[in-house]
Amino acid sequence: MPRLITHLCLVAAIGLAACGGSQSTNTTPDTPTQPSGPMLREQTSLPIGVALGVGSFEPASSIRYSPQASQLRHLAASEFSSVVAENVMKPEYIHPQEQQYHWNDGDYLVQFAQQNNMHIHGHTLVWHNALPSWMSNYSGNWESMLADHITTIVSHYSDSINSWDVVNEAFLDDGSLRSSIWSSHIPDYLAKAYTLARAADPDADLYYNDYNIEAMPKKLDAVLQMVTDFRTRNIPIDGIGFQMHIDRYWPSTAEIRQAFSRCVAMGLKVRISELDIRMNPNNTATALTPELAEAQRQRYREVITTYLSTVPAELRGGITVWGLTDALSWTPWYYKIPDWPLLFDASFQRKPAWTGMSEALQATP
Ligand code: G3I
Repeated sequence: MPRLITHLCLVAAIGLAACGGSQSTNTTPDTPTQPSGPMLREQTSLPIGVALGVGSFEPASSIRYSPQASQLRHLAASEFSSVVAENVMKPEYIHPQEQQYHWNDGDYLVQFAQQNNMHIHGHTLVWHNALPSWMSNYSGNWESMLADHITTIVSHYSDSINSWDVVNEAFLDDGSLRSSIWSSHIPDYLAKAYTLARAADPDADLYYNDYNIEAMPKKLDAVLQMVTDFRTRNIPIDGIGFQMHIDRYWPSTAEIRQAFSRCVAMGLKVRISELDIRMNPNNTATALTPELAEAQRQRYREVITTYLSTVPAELRGGITVWGLTDALSWTPWYYKIPDWPLLFDASFQRKPAWTGMSEALQATP
């Protein structure tokens, strides 16, 4: 039977099942029932976070400037207990000139979080990307510049930000140190960055954050060798952020479990820091069909269950999804493929993916 007819039969069957399998005379498709249940933040004491746009340069996602800003703020504050700036706390935006810091957007996010009793995670102090041009072209004393950058920002937020991605993405997938303006100009820059951050804030949890470390053992080897080296030199670091930009197939939950376990064995806190689950990695779909939505529910449930069953409560830094709705995700424009990787659809409605996370949170203390 040609695939299209098979597909239509399957959709019809699901439709009937949703109507209790009865021979409904109603020919108009029922609006899918929205997943119900308490807000995610009410289901656990674990920080459940979301990355939010704030700046005027983020017109669609900004909780401050978007035409849908009030709906974005309402959804974020209702469902989530933690926030992170998708962009406004990156060097390009918060430190646009050597002698100028831009606090306004970050302060807005902090105020929003405090008004809604939300944890705040800072992203990110040192990265090879999102750099202001003055930094990329800097010709002064690099160590002084790094010290001023980190000390000024962390001190400004020392009473409000609970944890930081001090360094983001410093290693390549093969485990070698990524070449960047930092590695090129500051010997041992990683150790210096964490030392500076701790000096500016004695209490914040200091994380190293990266992608693919949940699936590439050589990359995670390099991260954990850095931690081991730090510990021999009393350089402070508290945890590892696993970005988890994954898809419906990759990586396996076994690989994810193994990676988390290695961090737990070292007594490191573990954050799922930027979770999104692409359902169309091979560009075979043009919409999130009921089958894909169901597969995404199962995948979100598996991933969150793997985290909760592998990382003990005292080492759980929290789970953050990288965006509020599918319409605001970075993935479609980055991969140039339609996708629907998040918990809420473009109309701010809970998806089956939301149910998957909820099921995992409710099943595991
Ligand atoms: O829209 C503005 C444009 O008006 C302005 O002229 C330009 C100046 O650079 O910036 C544009 O903003 C874009 C911004 O997203 C807001 O949409 C930037 O071009 C674009 O580079 C930026 O992309 C962000 C990307 O990090 C790079 O910073 C994505 O939103 C953000 O989701 C993504 O997030 C990263 C994490 O920080 C680290 N881990 C990977 C993750 C996904 O790439």
